[in-house]
Amino acid sequence: MKNLFIILCLSTIVFAQNKSIEERIDSVLSKMTLEEKVGQLVQYSGGFDTGTQTARPSEAHEKLISKGKVGSFLNVFGTESTRRLQKIALEESRLKIPLIFGLDVIHGFRATFPVPLAESCTWDPQLVQMSARWQATEAASTGLHWTFNPMVDIARDPRWGRIVEGSGEDPYLGSLMAAARVKGYQGDNLSADNTIVACAKHFAGYGGAEGGRDYNTVDMSERTFRDVYLKPFHAAVEAGVGTLMSSFNEIGGVPQSGSKFLLTDILRKEWGFDGFVVSDWNSVGELIPHGFAKDLKDAAILGINAGVDMDMEASAYFNFLADLINQGKVSKNVLDESVKRVLRIKFRLGLFDDPYKYCNSELEKKTILNKEIVNASREVAKKSIVLLKNEKNLLPLNKNLKSIAVIGPLANSKDDPLGPWAAQGRAEDVVSVVEGLKNKLGNSVEIHYEEGCKVNDPSKNDFAKAVEVAQKSEIVILCVGESRGMSAEARSRAYLDLPGVQEDFVKEIYKTGKPIVVVLMNGRPLTINWISENIPAILETWFLGIQSGNAIADVLFGDYNPSGKLTTTFPRYVGQVPLYYNHKNTGRPHNKNDFYTSYYFDIDNSPLYPFGYGLSYTTFEYSNLSLSSDRIKKDGTITVTVNVKNSGKYEGEEIVQLYIRDLVGSVTRPVKELKDFKKILLKPHETKTVHFLITPDKLMFYDINMNYTIEAGDFKVFVGKNSVDVLEASFSVID
Ligand code: NOJ
Repeated sequence: MKNLFIILCLSTIVFAQNKSIEERIDSVLSKMTLEEKVGQLVQYSGGFDTGTQTARPSEAHEKLISKGKVGSFLNVFGTESTRRLQKIALEESRLKIPLIFGLDVIHGFRATFPVPLAESCTWDPQLVQMSARWQATEAASTGLHWTFNPMVDIARDPRWGRIVEGSGEDPYLGSLMAAARVKGYQGDNLSADNTIVACAKHFAGYGGAEGGRDYNTVDMSERTFRDVYLKPFHAAVEAGVGTLMSSFNEIGGVPQSGSKFLLTDILRKEWGFDGFVVSDWNSVGELIPHGFAKDLKDAAILGINAGVDMDMEASAYFNFLADLINQGKVSKNVLDESVKRVLRIKFRLGLFDDPYKYCNSELEKKTILNKEIVNASREVAKKSIVLLKNEKNLLPLNKNLKSIAVIGPLANSKDDPLGPWAAQGRAEDVVSVVEGLKNKLGNSVEIHYEEGCKVNDPSKNDFAKAVEVAQKSEIVILCVGESRGMSAEARSRAYLDLPGVQEDFVKEIYKTGKPIVVVLMNGRPLTINWISENIPAILETWFLGIQSGNAIADVLFGDYNPSGKLTTTFPRYVGQVPLYYNHKNTGRPHNKNDFYTSYYFDIDNSPLYPFGYGLSYTTFEYSNLSLSSDRIKKDGTITVTVNVKNSGKYEGEEIVQLYIRDLVGSVTRPVKELKDFKKILLKPHETKTVHFLITPDKLMFYDINMNYTIEAGDFKVFVGKNSVDVLEASFSVID
């Protein structure tokens, strides 16, 4: 009898293959019991939530699969594990609905790429898409179907440790990066065996945590929410993202994992999203400590009714949803819609047609750390580096140097360059800076390494040894910053200085009088005023992944001319934050001659390094900014033209940035907003004319009545090498 049933089910599935996905979803749904429906909305972790452990779900988990009571696992990977569990779902569960396996593949599975904040500094969405494509290829080969990425939260506060996971402070750039990553992970065909479904997170506003403290309260106007924080999510949805993750935070008293306004009204009704929403880890359960749900049962009602389709780890749906349906407290319709959304993504992944197609161990062996992927990681890494200072052209270094001191706590670290959320990234695969320099220079140059101090430790005992090697070398490369675990989830910092005794260490080395290049590794902007004033050359390298040392050596020796630009403002002092370029003017903009204006009594308003900032080994000159017209109608367009000349000695890339300011509106507008940019390559002495097209969408915003519109009036256009050094022109929009 049981066999006959299995044959019937299989034949229904095979027969159904010719039908449209929606018909197939309905057909599966019609056969499901209430418990099986709830099962599709349940996700458990098979390992640890950072995904660094080889996962082995418990026997209890396996039983749940055989009963159709779980629809997804996170932190289970490796073709052997995923095949074993999938087999239970297909051979032991009644309806044979395949499982979907997800993991935080944030910047690579085993071949670690630069952290997302670093990648955003390339200002190169195509490159970032390519990076995501490779990450997906590797992840899919290990049995994964789904990554909890891209993290598209706008972050204006570097105290927040998760700033490292996103693309910085700007909604326009953030939207391009969000779309690029979605396209990269999902490819053109989600059912191919090297594509995985993306998850835009954390929906929404999580980056606005008060005081930059992780998980903290968020409060902001709906206008700022929509104009700034929601933009990258919308871009991800437009790019076809299959899933979103509802965030931990509340906004205006409503925790986002219980927000019908966000998860249903905006996401589904306004944006037409038809994939599914997974909660963040226990974020449905956290509706209780938020003071929004009285118990887990209540939390289940609020979560599902708001639009959270899949419950990650709270067990709220697992324990209560079936009863709630039976009691009529949650409608069958709501349940069915959520189940359909989950099935839809499983169908789109092709899991119903070939549930094992991601479980090919041969492919897994061939793909993991494959040379092409490793090379791609180096390519992205060198383009992510931002040159912050280069006095008297100390860089690039000459390969004929006799001796180099490579010192500091991060100089030979093979673990830290992996950065946070490195999935299966391993220190043994990382090229440290010392190793990268040796790879580049062979034995022709003496390389003296000393650690000098730890990243975050009070001991100065080893300073002397490092001073000694500095003294006997021609030049010093000093690698300082944060350890990989200092900027990540739950790693908010109240100080943004170099941790431990590192600044004292830099000062000690400085006393040797040797030329010094500081190589920073960190996951957030740091307040490095002393270094910025006194050290002649500074490279911001973030956490670059497994090819870190090679990429840094490429830049230090000029095999690659740095082109990265900051996507997040560097403050001078922590007391300035949140500090971001697209702020409002206020009624009393700062004026040095007027005491009663908006500034700090004790420090300057200006940042240490502004948004969009980054140097090159060559120099660029901007001239002849012109507009095709100085008056347009609301549906009109303007061409902006500017000449950019390479006035230095090296070939180099420049990121030409266009900002707009709407001078007067029915609501106030930011002093500048990035609206376009172009990355161009120029030979020495070459001039290129760069054109931008201002289209109506670049002038739109939420007006006083919350209509997304353009208002007639005067605008300024700024074009330049960063958000501060710009040329300026004006135009008007007329009715
Ligand atoms: C919690 C984090 O906030 C989220 O970003 C992550 O995807 C989940 N844990 C799963 O690991």
